[in-house]
Amino acid sequence: MIIAVRASQRLDSRGIPTVQVEVETEFGIHRALVPSGASTGKHEAVELRDKVDGVYGGKGVGKAVRNVQEIIGPALVKRGFNPQTQLRDIDRFVRDLDGTPNKANLGANAILGVSMACARAGAASSGIPLYEFLRKEAGIEGPYVMLVPFLNVLNGGVHSGNTMAFQEMMIAAVGATSFEEAMRMGSEVYHRLKQAILDRYGAPATGIGDEGGFAPPVTLPEQALDLLATAVADCGYSEQVKFGIDPASSEFFRGDGSYDLGFKDKSPNILSPADLQQLYNRLLAEYPIVLLEDPFAEDDWHTWAAFNKTCPVELVGDDLLVTNVERVRMADSRKACNSMLLKVNQIGTVTEAIEAASFAFSLGWSVFVSHRSGETTDDFIADLTVGLSTGHLKSGAPCRGERVVKYNRLVDIESELKAAGKTCLYAGAHFRFPSELSV
Ligand code: PGA
Ligand code: ZN
Repeated sequence: MIIAVRASQRLDSRGIPTVQVEVETEFGIHRALVPSGASTGKHEAVELRDKVDGVYGGKGVGKAVRNVQEIIGPALVKRGFNPQTQLRDIDRFVRDLDGTPNKANLGANAILGVSMACARAGAASSGIPLYEFLRKEAGIEGPYVMLVPFLNVLNGGVHSGNTMAFQEMMIAAVGATSFEEAMRMGSEVYHRLKQAILDRYGAPATGIGDEGGFAPPVTLPEQALDLLATAVADCGYSEQVKFGIDPASSEFFRGDGSYDLGFKDKSPNILSPADLQQLYNRLLAEYPIVLLEDPFAEDDWHTWAAFNKTCPVELVGDDLLVTNVERVRMADSRKACNSMLLKVNQIGTVTEAIEAASFAFSLGWSVFVSHRSGETTDDFIADLTVGLSTGHLKSGAPCRGERVVKYNRLVDIESELKAAGKTCLYAGAHFRFPSELSV
């Protein structure tokens, strides 16, 4: 039973306010911290910001905190919900309380904090780990699958100060034999990459971006991918480690339908959708890329669908889908992509995020779980990824506390499952469709 719900304002990894929620039950106090994006999609659920001049640059979350304290919390306590069996009902009730399709009234940041904390309370009431609780919520069966970590080791776009338009260059140790080994390989490549940047650009170029990846003064995607390829080869992992790219192209889409790769330093480098498709095809031919996320803008349906016809790799919709069943349905009917990025705060409740994942799976798509660029030390998504058996997750570089807290939690989960003698497979090359793994 929920005894009390409390909320307060805390800071995220960028030093910007975010919402913390505590749900108290007879099993203790269960806490959640809410993440926040920078390259946010325009169809995402609405994050409430106070917009008070001079206070945290207008980015305070006092209103969202009050909405939890004064509206959501008292209503949940009054209704006597039991998070052990009623997460779905709780999320539905709070959505109805909000009454808008995009959570603009109470705020997705308020609502998500409550939902995550209630999931933790539910797991504690059942005496099971959070990943187990979420697995049951999602109705997932079969062996446990440890995911391939996609480590964002080079940061560009709106996440760093360099002139690279593409936001994320990721490495993925698909050839490792366990999650822990994948992290070791990733960490080794990360440090080799630092050396390569140091050698080429000098010490001031080794600073990092919002997600812990390096942000050297590169502009073209080829420059970044060459650095990655060098670091991977120097470590001797060219067979085992592949690449993923998230250009986050909604950020450089122009109203006239074209894309500007020079948007960061205002020296225009305009590409038509056809030019951009050609660029991706060139990169796919030249580098071991296995995943491409948001190559086109959130409403550029036509280009997504054209590219998807021949795209040989996983094509992930982030801003395109915003973890929203309706957007997934639209993308399916247009054959726009073949994978859904899952960010819990894009939709605003744990239940809806799980529903979106289940729907994507039912279409034969893959699901890729993601953090936000503005993160916290909350490790919820680590458990969620194991619970949903999605086979892959991105949580930034193997660096910065708010990033590694998820990876460290995953090593704990892997060790715990193995120690308990449970079958625990590493998704490896099957990261898109881990159900194809044989035991
Ligand atoms: P965001 O970036 O959290 O700033 O939106 C992550 C992404 O685009 O995948
Ligand atoms: Zn993205």
